[in-house]
This record gives sequence, structure tokens and C-alpha cells, in this order.
Amino acid sequence: MRIAIASDHAGFDQKPAMVSYLESLGHEVRDMGPDSAERCDYPDYADKVARLVASGKAERGILICGTGIGMAITADKVAGIRAAVIQTPEFAELFREHNNGNVLCISGRFVSLEVNKKIVDNFLTTEFAGGRHAGRVEKIMREDDPGFAGVGTGL
Ligand code: RB5
Repeated sequence: MRIAIASDHAGFDQKPAMVSYLESLGHEVRDMGPDSAERCDYPDYADKVARLVASGKAERGILICGTGIGMAITADKVAGIRAAVIQTPEFAELFREHNNGNVLCISGRFVSLEVNKKIVDNFLTTEFAGGRHAGRVEKIMREDDPGFAGVGTGL
């Protein structure tokens, strides 16, 4: 699978090991930086990976920051992206099965590399379940359409 990965300074420590792990599994990995643990802004790196996934140049994205939160907030603003912070392997499975997630955001500060590898395994091997989840994912994606005026609040 073609996978784009990036971090910020807080996720940098886990990135090289994660890149090697992904390559050992046979994936084609594009490391979008950074190249050092120097302080940097996570939205810049989330943007790169999210756009590669949205354009189809990468099939999945993996982002590592301190919590994963800022990466997910940024990536989700790019049209076509379904990103979430995932802290357990079980959530990674459901993120794929129910939400057809395409950008995984993980914590380099609060979750060990060992657990993050299991999260990544499930993210990469679990298929979207479709069925009743398909229409819900379509409803998520209509929020990307600037012409969509919302379902109405009644207020
Ligand atoms: C960086 O200090 C930290 O804010 C960042 O890595 C991330 O946790 C943001 O959501």
C-alpha cells in the first residue's frame, strides 16, 4: 500500500521506527517530514499528508504528534479526508470498519510505539464494512461540499 507519514517534533521519536516497520511489511512509504526533532508546526505536516491522500497519491496517511489531536483537526479540514485520533487497536479496527478512515492520527507522547504498531496494523488490514455504514459515511462527506447547507436545525 502507498502510505504517507509525517509527524511534528512531539511525534518525531516514533516516526523512524514506524517508517521501518511499515517498510518491513512491504508498504511503499513516503516520509513527508520533518527531518529533525526541531520544534515545528503540526498543521504543516498534517496538510501535506492529507493532501497526498485526498489526491490519491497515497492510499492512507499516518500522522504522529504529541496527542494526535491537532493532526486530526487539521487533516479533517481537507476535502476527502476522514481522520481521527486513535489510542487503541480496537478503535483502529472500528475506525476502518465503520468510518472508512483514511488518515490515522496517533500520539507519540502518551501511547507506546508497541501499541501504536498494533493500531497501525489494524488500520492497514481492516476493511470498511460498508452496508449500513456506507450511507453514514456518505453523509459525513457531504460536509465537504460548499453547496451543502446542512440538514436543518429547526431553529
Ligand atoms: C506540540 O507541543 C503539541 O501541541 C502537538 O504535538 C500536538 O499534541 C497537538 O495537538
